[in-house]
Amino acid sequence: MAEFVGAVDQGTTSTRFMIFDHDGNEVGRHQLEHEQILPQAGWVEHNPVEIWERTSAVIQTALNTTGLTAADLVSLGITNQRETTVVWNRRTGRPLYNAIVWQDTRTDRIATALERDGRGAVIRAKAGLPPATYFSAGKIQWILENVDGAREAAERGEAIFGTTDTWLLWNLTGGPRGGVHVTDPTNASRTMLMNLETLDWDDELLSFFGIPRQMLPEIRPSSCPGDGYGRTLPIGPLAGEVPINGDLGDQQAATVGQVCFAPGEAKNTYGTGNFMLLNTGTEPVRSSSGLLTTVCYQFGDEPAVYALEGSIAVTGSAVQWLRDQLGIISGAAQSEDLARQVEDNGGVYFVPAFSGLFAPYWRSDARGVIVGLSRYNTNAHLARATLEAICYQSRDVAEAMVADSGVALDVLKVDGGVTANELCMQIQADVLGVPVVRPVVAETTALGAAYAAGLATGFWSSTDELRANWKESKRWEPRWSDAQRTEGYERWKKAVARTLDWVD
Ligand code: G3P
Repeated sequence: MAEFVGAVDQGTTSTRFMIFDHDGNEVGRHQLEHEQILPQAGWVEHNPVEIWERTSAVIQTALNTTGLTAADLVSLGITNQRETTVVWNRRTGRPLYNAIVWQDTRTDRIATALERDGRGAVIRAKAGLPPATYFSAGKIQWILENVDGAREAAERGEAIFGTTDTWLLWNLTGGPRGGVHVTDPTNASRTMLMNLETLDWDDELLSFFGIPRQMLPEIRPSSCPGDGYGRTLPIGPLAGEVPINGDLGDQQAATVGQVCFAPGEAKNTYGTGNFMLLNTGTEPVRSSSGLLTTVCYQFGDEPAVYALEGSIAVTGSAVQWLRDQLGIISGAAQSEDLARQVEDNGGVYFVPAFSGLFAPYWRSDARGVIVGLSRYNTNAHLARATLEAICYQSRDVAEAMVADSGVALDVLKVDGGVTANELCMQIQADVLGVPVVRPVVAETTALGAAYAAGLATGFWSSTDELRANWKESKRWEPRWSDAQRTEGYERWKKAVARTLDWVD
């Protein structure tokens, strides 16, 4: 009898496949990075074919190393970097262009124009999002306008769009010539094209970007019983037929993996960026503080659950920048050792506004700054300032959440790669003034996708059963005095102000 659930987590820098047992414990995994293609300043692309090949490879390796086969898997869940846009030909399965990644700012003009003529207000009301380069619609428009033959192919119904969940589902269920063309409401809610109330594509929003409706995938629930999203192809990487019953954007998946099933429950994921999501229940709550309204999950035929989200573009990727561009550390873990060499930031504040500033500012024109330098400062201060930047940006978002919801934060549940950095988590507790807690299974993104899949097939009976799987592994208590916290945050705000109005 099949005893496990598998999950593909297709992230911004890597793709992993994880296998979980009924208690939510990891029984196997494999992970591979893919190339970050940076053709010019502000542009970030991925090769969709490489992503599919890496996905196939991680599935095969994880199965081989655990000795498991498709027959051991009850179901499969998919979770993915959101917004990243793939357009491909439905006859050949070939992408028309590289995937345009969520961090890419080439659509700055498209986003700014939306604000000038009142369409921004309609997008905010219908999609719950501010016009920004972040979301998929502008990226699709850019491909239609800049890739030879793309618009004609889209109008003929030949060029189709998907975020990377949709791209992988297409390949997993049908090979290049086509399987299902589907997505879920959490991913669809990040395109700027889905109406949050109807959970369907919206013709007015489509018209703003000149996107033909036939390009778009069918939207099915995030946890989808029965046929779900189809079955894996026996000649594919699983070498067998496994139903696919879960599909969620990665941040929503992490919210599920952290079992934030009640309104008022929140999590913060520390990856290339940071994403804090607060479950707000079955009614979409509009933000007046710069947060996004988004779909949190939709399980089967139950009503959709919504979330407020604070998205931060650059957190873990600022640590990568120390490694790759400045060369002051050789690996991410070393940022902790280097930052520990100093007591404090030595007066240095670093705002890594590399993709503009996301929540709660939404300024595509912001650019990064390092301020407060004196000759006394060293690489160690810069490393410390980088970790502090991760935490101060999260405080900006936490403040907005409290303002919107009226609910004070009393503890922060965290997950993601950067939570392995103990110093960073201590700073987070210090900067927020509340305890920070990490669960035993820190891979909550893949776990959430597995939960969505397993709930649909009855492998897990209810969300209560999932709650029982959540166990605390580590807690950081705040140590700073109130005065220290207030002073640090005021300086941070001054540094943020210097990122704005830099580009004309
Ligand atoms: O919205 C972008 C987000 O989904 C990316 O997450 O973990 O791949 O950086 P991650």
